[in-house]
Amino acid sequence: MEKVGILTGGGDCPGLNAVIRAVVRRAHGLGYDVLGVKNGWAGLIHGYTEPLTDFSVTGILPRGGTILGTSRTNPFRDMDHIQKLKSNWQKFGLNYLVAVGGEDTLGVAHKLFRQEGYPVVGVPKTIDNDLAGTDYTFGFDTAVQIVTEAIDRLHTTAESHKRVMVVEVMGRDSGWIAIHSGVAGGADVILIPELPFDIEKVSEKIRLRHARGRYFSIVVVAEGAKFSADVNPQHGAPIVQDMGKDEFGHARLGGIGNILAREIEHRTGFETRTVVLGHIQRGGSPSAFDRVLATRYGLGAIDMVHRGEFGCMAALRANKIVSIPLADAVSKNRTVDQEMIDVANGILDKLTTEKETVGQ
Ligand code: F6P
Repeated sequence: MEKVGILTGGGDCPGLNAVIRAVVRRAHGLGYDVLGVKNGWAGLIHGYTEPLTDFSVTGILPRGGTILGTSRTNPFRDMDHIQKLKSNWQKFGLNYLVAVGGEDTLGVAHKLFRQEGYPVVGVPKTIDNDLAGTDYTFGFDTAVQIVTEAIDRLHTTAESHKRVMVVEVMGRDSGWIAIHSGVAGGADVILIPELPFDIEKVSEKIRLRHARGRYFSIVVVAEGAKFSADVNPQHGAPIVQDMGKDEFGHARLGGIGNILAREIEHRTGFETRTVVLGHIQRGGSPSAFDRVLATRYGLGAIDMVHRGEFGCMAALRANKIVSIPLADAVSKNRTVDQEMIDVANGILDKLTTEKETVGQ
């Protein structure tokens, strides 16, 4: 029997188990064995695996995280690791591999296919929704739901205390989570990495709301948002937690919420608090939408293996699962599009006299 490996890499997100379940069920239906590779690419380098049976995937659909574990391991950082990966591939008798991940994990999958000729298929995962080539990644919908619920709760406490609440959300270099949850939760200001903002205009907007009798405001800020360099040439870079980088060269973003809250309070005189939602956005059970999307991706990936469409990724385009080259998905980040910015500005403008409330 031919054997398909499956691994989950990068940051975990709700829906990973739904993909694993769909891959296992469809693969067995088509006559393949399935081998779970543990902890992302680290599992192939160090030989951590577990055969996946129908029993292994029973009851995992609503569970968050990944039963296989994950890591941010980049095997291409060390050619010795690539050698180990190759010998383990042979040792475990793998014929094909399904890699479930974001830009980094799928970047490795793409290189393994293009440079080393391995038959790999990708599935797009990330709460950030920043992968090119697909309309949505799974995990995003759940994260937006979690943030929206938080904003709803923050409204009542902000209103009671007449405070400004700054909500810092994830998303790395894209503002998808911020803009979707900001619109869904009725935020008053939404700040995204795509549009560096002028702190004075943000403060003015909040003062204007107060002048109209709205004594509280909700500001949603993406972790990668930037103070505008037009205002201060030292600005324009995202705020990082420390100077370290992961194996793919990414800095750990975070901290802008507190800086922003301090500035708003200082400039407006209104009491301001910060909430950093952090990894809560990645935890827990997937939404119904993500369960269905992840299931569709899992089935699509095995069908692609069966059809021999390697070096490709299952993608959602106009509500159809299609196969696209991995090269297209990993070549660039998908940032928030003008249409979504117009949606946010359209709704936020009603509260203000200015245009361009998003990003300022
Ligand atoms: O890519 C998903 C993500 O949650 C980003 O939004 C965030 O910047 C990053 O991962 C956090 O990574 P870690 O889990 O390593 O702290």
